[in-house]
Formats: sequence, structure tokens, C-alpha cells
Amino acid sequence: MSAEIFDKVRQLGKDIQESAPKSMEELEQFRIKYLGSKNVLKSLFGEIRNIANEQKKEFGQLVNSVKQSAEQKFSSLKNELESAAEDAAAQDLDLSMPGEPLQLGSRHPIAVTMNRIIKIFERIGFVVADDREIEDDWHNFTAMNTPEDHPARDMQDTFYLLNSTEMLLRTHTSSVQSRVMVNAQPPIRIIAPGRVYRNETISARSHCQFHQVEGLYVDENVSFADLKQTLLYFAREMFGPEAKIRLRPSYFPFTEPSAEVDVYLGTATEKDYRLTKGTGWLEILGCGMVDPAVLENCGIDSSKYSGFAFGMGIERQALRLYDIGDIRLFFENDVRFLKQFASAL
Ligand code: PHE
Repeated sequence: MSAEIFDKVRQLGKDIQESAPKSMEELEQFRIKYLGSKNVLKSLFGEIRNIANEQKKEFGQLVNSVKQSAEQKFSSLKNELESAAEDAAAQDLDLSMPGEPLQLGSRHPIAVTMNRIIKIFERIGFVVADDREIEDDWHNFTAMNTPEDHPARDMQDTFYLLNSTEMLLRTHTSSVQSRVMVNAQPPIRIIAPGRVYRNETISARSHCQFHQVEGLYVDENVSFADLKQTLLYFAREMFGPEAKIRLRPSYFPFTEPSAEVDVYLGTATEKDYRLTKGTGWLEILGCGMVDPAVLENCGIDSSKYSGFAFGMGIERQALRLYDIGDIRLFFENDVRFLKQFASAL
């Protein structure tokens, strides 16, 4: 009786060594048969009570070794089959196939608009001046001739840093004017593109963050005529050779005289009608002759030098350039929106 059972186990061991599953399905059958929860080896362990006492140990060891050989066989078969599958896949590889298309990033429409504006001014000798967005009160307001009781300083417009009356998020790129002038003597001819912040209610037409490009030209004998010609040149480059501009008298603490500039887009298309509220005129910037007090605040001799400055908003120009109806889209970073500008430079 015991000899028979020993033979049976040995035969099982041989069967295991000789099995050669050819597929993952066959391997699974092997696993179920020899290693599964109801495997044949388990039932053999049950036979141990039919074995003579002095042979029980030997029998147990034999069954265990068969079990171990089943485990080893299983893992080596699995490796073989897997690497065979990889080889087959590699042979199927067609190296002449085109690759997966790369998802190209795109430039933000605000950046594109800003770059266009920068290029236009660089062509007539302006250089880019870049400066900080977290600014102190002096560069943003005091140096720019904005008295302490001026409403622009009001907490309702300006974001001050927490627990500070001194540090703020710049409310306009005009802060770069003072940054540049305290460090350089004329001739100065810079543009300063960048982000600015004001505590305004967010709507389709205004936001608490937006972008401006500042311009500053200081030299001997700079006149209002120079300012007007520079802006006309800009309008024609930006909006087409037929573009017209108009200057309306205005007030800024840091320029005297001051003006606001509208560019004529007409009302022929619906978007221009909407954007100009039916007037055909789009307000794009504020400007003026640099107030002598500002020059003096920054260490420039106002009896020798004069200058002009302007600051334009970018968002509105970008709305027109890309026919976008809502300024908030610029700041939401929804890829479905941004992807549409994939080809823009
Ligand atoms: N800083 C002004 C604004 O933000 C614009 C401006 C710049 C006006 C330079 C005159 C000169 O509205």
C-alpha cells in the first residue's frame, strides 16, 4: 500500500517536470492542478494516515519536495512564456510607422499680444525693462507724484501685503518708470510689460489682475508731438495702416498734460460694435508728458530734460485680436481655451 503511494507521488513529480504549457491558458491549468486551492498534492497529504508510522516523515518530505518543484517549475515557465511574448511583440514592431504625435504647448494669447506690442516699440529703439510685481509704496505712488490722500491709494483699489502699509502689489507698470529713472540718466527709452493688480470686482470686462505695457521716453526736448507721433505709429502697426487715433484730455498725477487715447476700429463688424459700445472708438491707453515733479523725485534735472510716458492695457487688445468675449477666460487656464492658440507666436 505505502509503496504504491510513494510511486504515485514520484510519478506526479515526473509529470510536473515534464509539463510544457505552451500558452498562458495552459500555464493557468498547470497552476490550478498543482498549486491551486484543490491541488492534487493536497489530497496526497491526506493519505499520510495510511502510511506506516516509520515512513510518515519520509513521505511528508517527498510530498513537500514535489510541491516545491511545482512552485519552481511554475515560476520558470511563467518567465519563459512572458519573455517569449515580449519577443513576439518586438518582432511585430514596425519601425517605419510614424511616432505618437507630440502635444505641443502653445503661447497664451496675452503673451502673444504683449510680444507683438514689444516688437513694435523695439523697432523704434525702445528697450524692455522688467521689474518686480511686489512693489513699495514709494515707487508705485510717492515717486509718481501721487499724494498720500489720492484715492488710488485707497485700500479698496490697492492690494497691500498683509500687515503692511508699505508693500503692495503694483497697481500699474508706471512703478517701473521710477525704478528705471532712479538708476539711469537720460536718454531713457524703455517699455515695461507686465502684470498689475487692482482690487476690482471680477466680471467679463474687468479683473483684479491684468497686464499693461508702459512706455517712457526722457531726453532733451521731448515734446507732446513726439508722443502723438509715437502713438500713431503704434496704432498703425497694431491695428493696420488706416488706423486713426484720438487724444482726449485726462488727468494722471504723474503726467501733465495728460490724455487718454482711443483707436478707431469702426463698427462694421459685430465684434467691433460690441467692443466699442457702438462708438467705433476703443480706449487703449493713458499718456502724457512726464510731470517735472516725477523727474525731480527720481533725480533727473527737469530744467534740462523732458519726457513722455504712456501705459496701455493688454487684455482689451487681446480680446479684439482673438475675438474673445470674456476677460476671465485669460486667467482660467482651461486647456480647451488655450489649445486654440497653438499656432500663435
Ligand atoms: N498708469 C496709468 C494707468 O494705469 C496709465 C499711464 C501711464 C498714464 C503712463 C500716463 C502715463 O491707468
